[in-house]
Amino acid sequence: MSAPLDLVVEGAAEIYTAAGPIYSAGTLIGVQHGRVVFIGSKTALGASPWTIGEGTTRVDAAGGLVTPGLVECHTHIVFGGDRAGEYAQRATGVPYLEIARAGGGIATTVRGTRAASQEELVEGAHRRLDRLVSFGVTTCEVKSGYGLDLDTELKILRAVKALDADHPVDLVGTFLGAHTVPPEHKRSREAYLDLVVEEMIPAVAAEDLARFCDVFVEAEAFSAKEGARVLQAGVNHGLKPKVHADQLTGCGGAELAARVGAVSADHLEHVSLAGVRAMATSGTVAVLLPGASLFLGQDVRPPARALLDAGVPVALSTDCNPGTCMTENLQVMMTLGMSRLGMSPTEVLDAVTVQAARALDMADEAGQIAVGRKADLAIFDVASHVHLPYHFGVNHTRAVVKAGAVIWEASALGVGPR
Ligand code: NIG
Ligand code: FE
Repeated sequence: MSAPLDLVVEGAAEIYTAAGPIYSAGTLIGVQHGRVVFIGSKTALGASPWTIGEGTTRVDAAGGLVTPGLVECHTHIVFGGDRAGEYAQRATGVPYLEIARAGGGIATTVRGTRAASQEELVEGAHRRLDRLVSFGVTTCEVKSGYGLDLDTELKILRAVKALDADHPVDLVGTFLGAHTVPPEHKRSREAYLDLVVEEMIPAVAAEDLARFCDVFVEAEAFSAKEGARVLQAGVNHGLKPKVHADQLTGCGGAELAARVGAVSADHLEHVSLAGVRAMATSGTVAVLLPGASLFLGQDVRPPARALLDAGVPVALSTDCNPGTCMTENLQVMMTLGMSRLGMSPTEVLDAVTVQAARALDMADEAGQIAVGRKADLAIFDVASHVHLPYHFGVNHTRAVVKAGAVIWEASALGVGPR
């Protein structure tokens, strides 16, 4: 009995499976019903029940690199307006926290997001998601946090759900109502926290709009104690904890993440040694976002080597957002992971695949190429995984396969959607 494959990827110089072997030239990947069913040589394919038939889609990797579809585990791509003006201000010397204290920063984007309709939010996020796909992404996390009132937080997460239904990429929603205290509650932060805990979290959970609950633990946002209250309320409603931790100052964010058994602690530029040790014990994934300090013009780096040496799983992400990192280029984050954080080529590749999947509690579903797994693949015009972060700032993607279907490919005239 022989069965034709739905799709085959051939001609790869290297297949980087992440958490499995690295295959060299001559290895094919066979896909049926959206899943990988075969990995091996042409000879092995001949001896298997699988065949390449007339109806098989043939994807030519043309001497390139095949990796798992990239997993983008920390974004804020649903927002209204932009902050190009503040970026210009910052570049000429006004600090991020000063802009925030003067009513700009996150509050600027909150105004833009409150003013936008759900359809407008979906439209903007759709464009950003398409751009993420063009860089190889097949799974993407999206946070709320630019609404900061019940209606707008729900509007953002409903936009994520609508986009998920409409787009081949798998989206994962995170509730970040505790992003900052909104202007109308500046004198009553307790009342705002009550709103988050007593109204927003139950409403988000009732509509099944998020898998995670996140909190920004920072001088201008929430203390570790306030964060603990929010995360506990999330847990009570089935939302797993995540923390924006120690980004601009050391505030005990990593320690909090470890204490509550958070899935991930993100940023960590100012993490303490105790925080690193606590994360190693709790198994919390460190999500490093090196584009943020680059974009903010700050020469601070999270201690990636100390985290890795302590046994903390390390993921990398863009943090794509209008304030601190306006890019969808996850490939550049791999370069920054090496040049700025001292990670190795395999560590940065794992950081945007298998480790990013762990940061979304999706290690069984995404981030690896293996027989039986969903056929989410990225194909790059580079000779090996070492070349992908090495040649930076350009887009190397040749094609992207999601659940066995080609959803994006570079055109002969340049790059563009299929
Ligand atoms: O991950 N750190 C907090 N939140 C976002 C940026 C917020 C903003 O400035 O819009 C971040 O960097
Ligand atoms: Fe963020």
